[in-house]
Amino acid sequence: MKKSTSLFLLAAVFSTNTLFAQQKKAASGTDQKMNTFITNLMSKMTLDEKIGQLNLPAVGFDVTGPILSEGVDEKIEKGLVGGVFNTFTPQAVRKLQELAVTKSRLKIPLLFGYDVVHGHKTIFPIPLGLSASWDLGLIEKSARIAAREASADGLNWTFSPMVDIARDPRWGRIAEGSGEDPYLGSLIAAAMVKGYQTNSLSNKDAIMASVKHFALYGAAEGGRDYNTTDMSLIRMYNEYLPPYKAAVDAGAETVMVSFNDINGVPATANKWLLTDLLRKQWGFKGFVVSDYTGVSELVPHGLGDLQTVSALSLAAGTDMDMVSEGFLNTLKKSLQEKKISMAVIDLACRRILESKYKLGLFADPYKYVDEEKAKTEILSQKNRADAKRIAEASMVLLKNNNQLLPLKKNAKIALIGPLADNKRDMIGNWSAAGDWKLAISVMEGLKNVAPNMDITYAKGANLVDDPAILKQINANGADIVADEKTPEKLISDAVSAAKKADIAVVVLGESAIMGGEATSRTNLDLLPNQKELLKALAATGKPIVLVLMNSRPLTLTWEDENIPAILETWFSGTESGNAIADVLVGNYNPAGKLTATFPRNVGQIPLYYNHKNTGRPYDGLSNEKFKSRYIDSSNDPLYPFGYGLSYTAFSYSPIKLNKATLAAGQTIQATIEVKNTGNFDGEEVVQLYLQDIYGSVTRPVKELKGFQKIFIKKGETKTVTFTLTEEMLKFYNSDLKFAAEKGDFNLYIGANSRDNQASRFTFTK
Ligand code: NOJ
Repeated sequence: MKKSTSLFLLAAVFSTNTLFAQQKKAASGTDQKMNTFITNLMSKMTLDEKIGQLNLPAVGFDVTGPILSEGVDEKIEKGLVGGVFNTFTPQAVRKLQELAVTKSRLKIPLLFGYDVVHGHKTIFPIPLGLSASWDLGLIEKSARIAAREASADGLNWTFSPMVDIARDPRWGRIAEGSGEDPYLGSLIAAAMVKGYQTNSLSNKDAIMASVKHFALYGAAEGGRDYNTTDMSLIRMYNEYLPPYKAAVDAGAETVMVSFNDINGVPATANKWLLTDLLRKQWGFKGFVVSDYTGVSELVPHGLGDLQTVSALSLAAGTDMDMVSEGFLNTLKKSLQEKKISMAVIDLACRRILESKYKLGLFADPYKYVDEEKAKTEILSQKNRADAKRIAEASMVLLKNNNQLLPLKKNAKIALIGPLADNKRDMIGNWSAAGDWKLAISVMEGLKNVAPNMDITYAKGANLVDDPAILKQINANGADIVADEKTPEKLISDAVSAAKKADIAVVVLGESAIMGGEATSRTNLDLLPNQKELLKALAATGKPIVLVLMNSRPLTLTWEDENIPAILETWFSGTESGNAIADVLVGNYNPAGKLTATFPRNVGQIPLYYNHKNTGRPYDGLSNEKFKSRYIDSSNDPLYPFGYGLSYTAFSYSPIKLNKATLAAGQTIQATIEVKNTGNFDGEEVVQLYLQDIYGSVTRPVKELKGFQKIFIKKGETKTVTFTLTEEMLKFYNSDLKFAAEKGDFNLYIGANSRDNQASRFTFTK
């Protein structure tokens, strides 16, 4: 090293150290101290440096769009970057953080964000699968482990939880959320925020959560990604907004704006959404980040040129601009032209600096850079064991005629299907830092769990044969190559294997890359080549267990009619194969329940359990014409919300109420006996639904208001008690007031949203 350079570095390190010492002192205090510290810092910042804090470029690799950010190192040195995303590992983070805290004038540390969506390197089931566990403790644990791994890998910010209510399985991003129910979705949102952030962002293994996509992204018209939403306020408040609010109430430090238009104003520029609702009504105190190029996309949305939309977004309440660099390149001009005020720039800058302060980055910009910790924390045996347990809990048994499952551990099986001996797809979509090569396939899992099982494998079909889908997903990185054997030969080999076995276990579904962002589908049947295989296997007369892997509810009407046992496993992560094998052989008795309705056909979509009655409800039986129904399909789903079987069976007694009326401030105890009448110990998710029969506005036919996941030994009975309160009866009325109205309520308790015991009580106010 040249002497002059080393002297320069020494000086830089010295002055940085002194600055850190001062900052550390300042950072260890209260809000007042934070305010003083930031006011002081901002007094030294130039306009460019302030705008720089609002800039979030992508550095590293990219998964959701072309890499657009250029010259980032140089910008960091000039103080023109507030944070980066898609960079991780202690080494890579240290390199960029060093640029910020040694080369930039004010040495303001960077944020490091990433899509840690269902695990960082130890991958858990896709979020839709996680939600099917109905186990808030396990879900929080998955977020905790993800945060511990991510924080050990240099990251301090995750773009999760995704809490968009989704009632449309055509939309590929249904995979990333917790399904269709606002109550369950809210509990999960809060659990995940807690898991990521712990009780204080100053903890070493806490990372900031970003609740997304605010708002209504899951209601995209036609299930087509990024599409418009147009929705009444009353529906928004009652059905779509609760999980975002729950995440904010749980302390989510950041909010990510959605791409979609909301009633004519895209979310990124929607002042009502980002300021009136989020900040004024909900009291959100953190900062708001746009989605990827969300700001510049306002140009094709039709709101104006880049300068106009950047000013609009900032004024609406978007504090940080992800990738567009509309803020970086145009806000100064807009200020000079008096199109925005200095106050809004200051406010956004302050909010971002506050988050950095709360994370403790001013005290220690290298807080998240610890090579040793990364070695022990990431993909530890303990994390993998937890991932297996969590994966098991996410699986949903859809059908099990004649108790075909569990399999005997020494059974002679034909293991068939393109996903049966597959690692590539196991970790699902949005498992960005996950390494699929470390995942366990079903074949490996069965060998681990049941070494005496006699297994013959046949691929049976290519994962995807459809040329249009293949072209699209291969362009997105699926790398699916057609097998050397012809499709006919693949099927005939599988049929011979099935004929020689006692049972065929057939593992089918989507390719992982067919789920997640930009993967909308108009047909939700099993892919035609896979269905053909399944039909050929069914024709052998051998008993078939269908193991499904998919990112969304599929239409499985034929399968339900023709296949005796069906296990939904989603994409269940690094430990997939072990977890699936444990379930197949009965080491774990499945207890997952669907959190998104499985329709019979695409024409029924959107289909969700908490719908309204209409004035002409159809009873499902009569041939009367003028009813709210289809003439070519039932209204009912194939598998309803909350549905899922067990290897054992549960029976429910009638409901007992300790009184029939509820007055304000009082409670009713509703009890029910649940008996395990089958041959296995097992867990059951006992669900409570309510219906407000007459209201000032129309109310859903039922809404989930409580649940308990309980373990019952075979032959035993447990009493489950729910406490009914006025709070459970509240909803937003046409004045958007959240209140309960007096009158009669139906109460349902049972195993899912369809099969339950009923009772009734009166709320007297
Ligand atoms: C776009 C996606 O919509 C969002 O969920 C994600 O967090 C960002 N890209 C960053 O990768």
